[in-house]
Amino acid sequence: CGIIGIVSGQPVADRLVDSLKRLEYRGYDSAGIATLSDAGLDRRRAEGKLVNLETLLKTEPLGGTIGIGHTRWATHGAPTVRNAHPHATPRVAVVHNGIIENFRELRTSLEADGYVFESETDTETIALIVTRALDRGAEPVEAVRQILPQLEGAFALAFVFSGEENLIVGARRGSPLAVGIGKGEMFLGSDAIALSPFTDAVRYLEDGDFVVLDRSQAKIYDVDGLAVERPVRRSVGKAFYVDKGNHRHFMQKEIYEQPEVIGHTLGSFVDMTTGRTRVPNGQSLDFKDIKRMAISACGTGYLAGLTGRYYFERHARIACDIDVASEFRYRESPLGDVDLALFVSQSGETADTLASLRYAKSMGLKTASVVNVQESTIARESDVVLPTLAGPEIGVASTKAFTCQLMALAALSIRAGVDRGVISPDEELAMTRALAEGPRMVAEAFKLEGQIEILARELATYRHALYLGRGLSYPLALEGALKLKEISYIHAEGYAAGELKHGPIALIDETMPVIVVAPHDRMFEKTVSNMQEVAARGGRIILITDEKGARAGAVSAMETLILPDMPEILTPIAFAVPLQMLAYHTAVHMGTDVDQPRNLAKSVTVE
Ligand code: G6P
Repeated sequence: CGIIGIVSGQPVADRLVDSLKRLEYRGYDSAGIATLSDAGLDRRRAEGKLVNLETLLKTEPLGGTIGIGHTRWATHGAPTVRNAHPHATPRVAVVHNGIIENFRELRTSLEADGYVFESETDTETIALIVTRALDRGAEPVEAVRQILPQLEGAFALAFVFSGEENLIVGARRGSPLAVGIGKGEMFLGSDAIALSPFTDAVRYLEDGDFVVLDRSQAKIYDVDGLAVERPVRRSVGKAFYVDKGNHRHFMQKEIYEQPEVIGHTLGSFVDMTTGRTRVPNGQSLDFKDIKRMAISACGTGYLAGLTGRYYFERHARIACDIDVASEFRYRESPLGDVDLALFVSQSGETADTLASLRYAKSMGLKTASVVNVQESTIARESDVVLPTLAGPEIGVASTKAFTCQLMALAALSIRAGVDRGVISPDEELAMTRALAEGPRMVAEAFKLEGQIEILARELATYRHALYLGRGLSYPLALEGALKLKEISYIHAEGYAAGELKHGPIALIDETMPVIVVAPHDRMFEKTVSNMQEVAARGGRIILITDEKGARAGAVSAMETLILPDMPEILTPIAFAVPLQMLAYHTAVHMGTDVDQPRNLAKSVTVE
């Protein structure tokens, strides 16, 4: 989704729409703007393409020199006009990116106080809860400040208020938001691209920031409510499709986009209002009669597929074969009892994956692909397209596309479990609720960055590293090792922890750091035993675990990175983040070309 806000002395409606056009690349299904004029707070919203909103504005124009706009990708509630943003009451209008996890509780409390909802969205809850604060006498800025702590989840917000022609309030937690600085006017946008028609002077908000804009200034407050300065950056949004924002590298920026984009991806697989899973875009894919699946992909996509195997086998009792696509395409597997061939690709153009897709089709199989680039060849040639909504990924080492692939596969495996009668409707709800916590858990993982940065300096002094994990953490161990070797050029291997004794243990001594991925799941004790075997041989252990795992302790690690406790289905997504950051900071420390590491290509369109 995209957000824009303008506080100005000039009319804003056309310019709001102009900005929304820049955000089209994100994909959306409805759009809207709200402005404040002499006639009061008013809005126009339309389903589908922006041209529908433009047409509507021709017949029913909106005056006003202050306003907000939004392009929406449905998460909570269908893409209808009623559910489109801005959401408003006579007192306030709001646009929102992200997911409010506790919106049901908030809604119940608001309804108990007599507030009436028009839509099924989580966002309307925000409009009403702010209205309640205003009704109780709070000033606009204060009203927003008061209600923010009540919102759980990841979000970016922009508000305009009735009677306040010189005020926009914004807040960011998890989802990006940036201030654009104009001459006698100020802007708020979800990224520099949204702001690019108006200004190239941008202040990127940090996570937790709260901002108060008027025509002449933007006052920014940090998570503790203290006034802060965020540096002015010159954005290249005008010239380029995407820019690095506050970040030194695209990879870092993309790591930080994850709360937003995994939420976005989840929204296309789960109706967040009902908590029910669905196959995106109304496509037909019934798993009822699917007993065996063949997954193939390359690189990081393969490792997402490997995680998918655990999800599908456990949640839907579908047997999964998995191959790297370069093997699958030539293996001439008879695919006898395979009912569905599934492919995973960020670019949708990887030559081996495409050839595997064509092989599966030639064998008469139904095909489905998890793809990030919707116009790609793999998307076009697959029977069913399962979109990841990661947005353009520029860094060669995949980060946000990977976690979006995991989110898509997790949600799809639940859908499959429901179709096959393995998962009850109640379990489905509990599981999709767990997935909705993903953006917040990823944001929690960001808090480890300081610790990881220091650790990375030490990791950079080694020549080799070993990554271990079991169960859902096994593909992650492989992914952690892949990330490290891709961008830092340190030799790294990932192993199933249970295989340690069958080879890699011979390599263990004090020159071999061992990164152990071990949330406190049913495999935890077993992995701890493997850690003990490493420790006994002088290996240096870096343990990535959760709070329960940290409490269970048992082994002295060189360093322990602790994430919050979370539902098991989320661990691959959230635990990927420290692994990405560890590889990133190690590479930065070593001075490699992080976004374009030597010899690697973003999209491998040759064999
Ligand atoms: C290249 C990229 C990897 C990616 C792999 C598969 O090796 O460097 O990041 O995982 O290709 O690409 P795909 O676009 O099919 O996911």
